[in-house]
Amino acid sequence: MINPLRGMKDLTFDESARFVHIVTTAIEIAKRYGYGYIETPILEETALFRRSVGESSDIVGKEMYQFEDKGGNDVCMRPEGTAGIVRAFVSAKLDRQPTKQKFYYYGPMFRYERPQKGRLREFHQFGCESFGEASVLEDFTIITMVGQIFDALGIDYDLKINSLGCSDCMPPYKQKLIGFLTEIKEELCADCNRRIDTNPIRVLDCKNAACQTLLVDSPKLISNLCDACDTDFKQLTALLDSAGISYEVDTNLVRGLDYYNKTAFEFVSNDIGSQSAIAGGGRYDKLVEYLDGKPTPGIGFALGIERIMELVQMPEREREGYYLGAMTPEAVEKLLLLANKKRLTDKVTVEYNSKGFKSHMKGVGKAHARYALLIGEDELENGTVWVKDLESKEEKRLPLAKV
Ligand code: HAM
Repeated sequence: MINPLRGMKDLTFDESARFVHIVTTAIEIAKRYGYGYIETPILEETALFRRSVGESSDIVGKEMYQFEDKGGNDVCMRPEGTAGIVRAFVSAKLDRQPTKQKFYYYGPMFRYERPQKGRLREFHQFGCESFGEASVLEDFTIITMVGQIFDALGIDYDLKINSLGCSDCMPPYKQKLIGFLTEIKEELCADCNRRIDTNPIRVLDCKNAACQTLLVDSPKLISNLCDACDTDFKQLTALLDSAGISYEVDTNLVRGLDYYNKTAFEFVSNDIGSQSAIAGGGRYDKLVEYLDGKPTPGIGFALGIERIMELVQMPEREREGYYLGAMTPEAVEKLLLLANKKRLTDKVTVEYNSKGFKSHMKGVGKAHARYALLIGEDELENGTVWVKDLESKEEKRLPLAKV
């Protein structure tokens, strides 16, 4: 027997119903906010992720499904969605249009991580990317939208926010931080030591408790923002306060992808164990330029569908459509023709084998049908159908032609 690869899963039955419910709920809400669907390839040039997600990130440094294709191209399976969408945005020359563009997407992402509960090598994201709006009002709007998606799915969450500053305030802050980290270098773990040179702000979210104790007194970016970033961040928190959305300012929230600036945020759940981030996102005002487009601000988020599948409250399934069953073999064909007509507008389950009444009623239950339509010998003779409405429990015989 051949099984799926380690860290990859088949989605069947109850799980696939959860998947579809999450995606359809998210799509419905994203559409209300003016997002339209975009689909980009799963396989992209490796250079795309090197230049966007960043050489120093774990995703690019350690986790890519990267290989040479038969034509000798260096390609990789997308580890996330944003880079491909920005590439598509630039390829389609949308960066030269004055209108704002908003896209939603969902699909598989690939990261060669160590699998554990909530951490897969193939997982699925639903995400949104908004281009052309630099105002912090858009940051607020996107955060509100993610909150609304979780509310609609019946999921409790904590929201963490931070500002990663801009090209004016981040470089001097980085220098300050490097100075601080160099002094405590000996005591920090090997990963942190490597990051001091490659990406010092990532030291701040080291998972090692000993490192975190040493970092308590580290300089905080939030107190080193330039005036413009500081004003925006204050406006964002004020808006969240007025909307009654609770949040925590987490100065160590730096995100694992290098393209972010200004607002960064994560939604976490306390109900799914250590892999608790259920959505993450932020602003990426330089990314379109990095990928050779005209300067265009951008902001977006992605949510992890598998992690949300653990938490989602499924709505009660309503009875729907028709179950057609014959109690005599001669009636099967009649029901099949009836099904063809009914299927133009309704969900129909047809049982091809003629069976007894009880057995058919079990089938009605399995199909979760609203109406049972059965034809036995009597009905066949009279040209009628026995109909039961499973909700009102009403039963009657109707002429077949009328059904
Ligand atoms: P990310 O934080 O890397 O951001 O991923 C977003 C979400 O995907 C996470 O919060 C988590 O729920 C889920 N996720 C990530 N890795 C795994 C995994 N190995 N197994 C299961 N679920 C996982 C991004 O990918 C950015 N592209 C988000 C974004 C969009 N930022 C701006 N626009």
